[in-house]
Amino acid sequence: MKRYLELNFRSDNESPAADAIMQAVVEANLGTAWAYADDEWSARLDDAFSELFGTPTTVIPVSTGTIANSIALAAVTPPWGSVYCHRNAHILNDESGAPEFLGNGLRLVPVDGPGGKFNAADLDRMVHANTGHGVHSYQPAAVSLTQSTESGTVYSAAEIAAICDTARQRDMAIHMDGARFGNAVASLDCSPAEITWKAGVEMLSFGASKNGCMAAEALLLFGRSDVKDTAERLRKRSGHLLSKMRYVSAQLLAYIKDGLWLEMAMHSNEQAAVFAAAVDAHPEACLEYPVEANEVFVQWTVEGFQRLEDAGIEFLHWPGRDDLARFVFSHCTEESATVRLCEALAD
Ligand SMILES: Cc1ncc(COP(=O)(O)O)c(C=O)c1O
Repeated sequence: MKRYLELNFRSDNESPAADAIMQAVVEANLGTAWAYADDEWSARLDDAFSELFGTPTTVIPVSTGTIANSIALAAVTPPWGSVYCHRNAHILNDESGAPEFLGNGLRLVPVDGPGGKFNAADLDRMVHANTGHGVHSYQPAAVSLTQSTESGTVYSAAEIAAICDTARQRDMAIHMDGARFGNAVASLDCSPAEITWKAGVEMLSFGASKNGCMAAEALLLFGRSDVKDTAERLRKRSGHLLSKMRYVSAQLLAYIKDGLWLEMAMHSNEQAAVFAAAVDAHPEACLEYPVEANEVFVQWTVEGFQRLEDAGIEFLHWPGRDDLARFVFSHCTEESATVRLCEALAD
């Protein structure tokens, strides 16, 4: 795969699409095709993902992670319902209220926990604290966990299963924001099934754009075909039923074909691990969170970060924290770029 020597560690959203994905788009560009996801590529999605996950899977292709999350949560939550998620969750902090907007005012309730993760006991405590006042309380309707997390950590299958058990006992639906799902699967070296439906996850926002695709994501439903019609209505109503969906679906098919998605995720995880080791060995800089996927959060001095910038390294200064920065590795991060980053850190 072609990679580019750039010192951009700001976000995997800034990476180019992979060659095989662009090729799939070109191949889908021959002649006319039925519109609005009635094309031959979209028709193959359910079978392809059912095979990948080893269970009947309904696939709803979309073009952003925000809309995948919002459709999923709005489909299972009444306007008086609440969705429990981590305090750092993208749905809570970075989607401009889209889940609440599409969900007619549903409420997102933050749950605290170290390293971007909450556990089943934290969830249970929070739900308990927020209910019990009849119609005066919001109705706990869903839980949403992010895999890999916004802090670059990864939930184990057992942690997910425990959260799902708690949610099920309270009749709550279970959603996973998998914007970086490939990085989590690559990190755990497990099957996609183990950390989703086998653990109790019912809806997965399956991310692909960060890891080699171009505006291609999907909402996957496991054993929740009852949600399909509502989700499809919400996709149309929110203006996300693309007339030329074939280009999104063709990317998704190419992405999961022959393990391409995992190959790309493995590469970005490996590059993150190389940098994490360099940070660990540094006398001053240190890791804010364990590095388990493709994101590295570094605590350091303002002067230290300035030196990296002077060396031409691009990264994200964490909002509100002068001593924290995020470095993200992608499918196209050149190994020599990671080496340059490590050298600049050591200088
Ligand atoms: C954890 C997480 N969820 C969801 C998304 C989806 O975002 P977008 O709507 O930009 O595709 C992102 C993107 O940064 C993310 O980091």
